Amino acid sequence: MDKLIIKGGTRLKGEVTISGAKNAAVALIPATLLINGICTITNIPNISDVKIFCKILEELGAIITWNNENEITFDTRNISCTNTPLDMTSKFRASYYLIGSLLGRCKEAMVGLPGGCNLGPRPIDQHIKGFEALGAKVEVTQGKIIASAKNLVGTSIYMDMVSVGATINIMLASVLAKGTTIIENAAKEPHIVDVANFLNTMGADIRGAGTDVIKINGVKKLHGNATYSVVPDQIEAGTFMLAAVATKGDLVIKSCIPEHLDCLTAKILEMGANVEAEGDSIHVWTTKRPNKANIKTQPYPGFPTDLQPQMGVCLAIANGTSIMKEEIWESRFQYTAELNKMGANITNQGKSAIFEGVKELYGAPVEATDLRAGAALIIAGIVAKGETTLTNLVHIDRGYENIEEKFRKIGANIQRVAEEIE
Ligand code: EPU
Repeated sequence: MDKLIIKGGTRLKGEVTISGAKNAAVALIPATLLINGICTITNIPNISDVKIFCKILEELGAIITWNNENEITFDTRNISCTNTPLDMTSKFRASYYLIGSLLGRCKEAMVGLPGGCNLGPRPIDQHIKGFEALGAKVEVTQGKIIASAKNLVGTSIYMDMVSVGATINIMLASVLAKGTTIIENAAKEPHIVDVANFLNTMGADIRGAGTDVIKINGVKKLHGNATYSVVPDQIEAGTFMLAAVATKGDLVIKSCIPEHLDCLTAKILEMGANVEAEGDSIHVWTTKRPNKANIKTQPYPGFPTDLQPQMGVCLAIANGTSIMKEEIWESRFQYTAELNKMGANITNQGKSAIFEGVKELYGAPVEATDLRAGAALIIAGIVAKGETTLTNLVHIDRGYENIEEKFRKIGANIQRVAEEIE
């Protein structure tokens, strides 16, 4: 087990380049199963979630070739849809996309039910509702989800709540269905547009992705033989924007799509820091302690839950009292207990947390309670006086490519060391 040792008190300065989006990549990889051919995906983030997903596809019979660290060719001509490695899929949340892809391709899927989650309950009732509306029979039994259909036939599906995963999964299942599927109250995140663009590049007919009504005209087959580049990771870009604010830094964040971060930019300006977007770069700088701000997480284009903990670090050291309301994940405030160990003054009240801004944080031993909490605690460690030791890095490695190297290049004093096993 590795740990990060961070010597704090640094003002981050310089340029950082953003990788491809994790949450797009983990949907595009299973989407290749719909192709029954060969395709190449570039700008893939080299993270453990991607590696696990590639292993699962290999177990299903795909031939995976890493052309370089960030480019993979997928040959999905020979797939056995019933060979899903259940133990691997049940450890991995985004494996739910295998249900939509395998149903679409083979009309049958068997996937290990993702277990309990450190963000709180993560039901998949809306995914199941969509598959059933398309004509599939879905059974959840003995830790597995088994779905099968004689035929998948397009229909109108109204989502009871905005769900990224269910929107993508229904898109995957309906691309090769007969007729037209309409998803209403669809999620609008950039990675939904990315999955639709990828499938359209391969011959699908999906319209309206990025709005709340998506129309999928079923096609007979997808053609492959194309190359697709993963959209830049808006959450990674937002993480570095907030790192600039928290450390009173000066960062140019390159290879990102500034429009995807409009909501965060507005908040950062409200907090008194400077933001300037130019082309595919965002420049964020400040010399002042941030102002307090009130924030409520929402589906895109609202404030993303996946940036809530990183923003929490800025609020912890802000001038005044801020209120953060979390509307998506029940257990997303676990990191606040870790920040309090570093001298923050945060009180949780159900869906809200109250941040009484303190002038300084102090280094302490802390634990990454989930992926975004881990990123937040790295930022907190860079801000804090003294030394922070961050453990449970497995969460961070799931979703951030070369994170400590990226932080080191902009001035952080951060080292990864192997943790001694007692
Ligand atoms: N929900 C249901 N039923 C469903 C599906 C969702 O009740 O069938 C609820 C959830 O419990 C939650 C809300 O709807 O309260 C939204 O969940 P959503 O389905 O949008 O989340 P997800 O698809 O499981 C993705 C990201 C998460 C990110 C959320 C919200 C992936 C692989 N994961 O999860 O990313 O927080 O959307 O934007 O795309 C992360 O990257 O750190 C992460 C957790």
